[in-house]
Amino acid sequence: MAEQCPFSSGHNSSADGDHEASLETWRRLCLTCRRCLLREGARGVVFGEGNPHAAIMFVGEGPGGDEDKLGRPFVGAAGQLLNRILTAAGLAREDVYIANVVKCRPPGNRQPQREEIAACLPLLQRQIFLIDPLIIVCLGAVAAQALIRPDFAITKERGCWHELGKHLVMPTFHPAALLRDPHKKKAVWEDMQQVVKLHNQISGESGEEG
Ligand code: URA
Ligand code: URA
Repeated sequence: MAEQCPFSSGHNSSADGDHEASLETWRRLCLTCRRCLLREGARGVVFGEGNPHAAIMFVGEGPGGDEDKLGRPFVGAAGQLLNRILTAAGLAREDVYIANVVKCRPPGNRQPQREEIAACLPLLQRQIFLIDPLIIVCLGAVAAQALIRPDFAITKERGCWHELGKHLVMPTFHPAALLRDPHKKKAVWEDMQQVVKLHNQISGESGEEG
């Protein structure tokens, strides 16, 4: 696995005004990433998109074919369902941030491998650091295992809050899992209610928006 410099240098946090510039700088660096072989088989890096100051950040597994083609996360069938979930929860897609654990499409949409996830994780970690969301929603097992615990069991353990540094993490099913099994929709609805409720509580208390 080729180690390239930008990702290992621990850039430091910047003043608030530099925030968006830093995220954009990070995006441009990530677009050049060759830390694993996934980039070889992908059209490009799908960095993620949304409000750089989002209070709620969604993390999926990795780009699929549609995402790879358009360079944007969650734009295929699972993305359409995610859009409906957001709307139902009263969230606007442009107000949240949407990213993935791996930023290049795995060949044939297979699951990303452990080494690929390990190679890509620093990109996501810095992205999270720069966006600094109050809440991170892990969509599916891969995200929950990457951000909560390697042996996280999504079916048994979803729907409960976890802490990741100062971020609160809610693991729920991946929208693609709902497409395969619509019975899972109720659980995701309940998990999203928890997300919205906590977000409203905290932003009400602090007077923050987002
Ligand atoms: N599935 C994911 O996990 N991420 C996407 O961006 C699209 C589908
Ligand atoms: N497997 C996944 O990857 N995600 C789910 O949400 C459920 C099962």
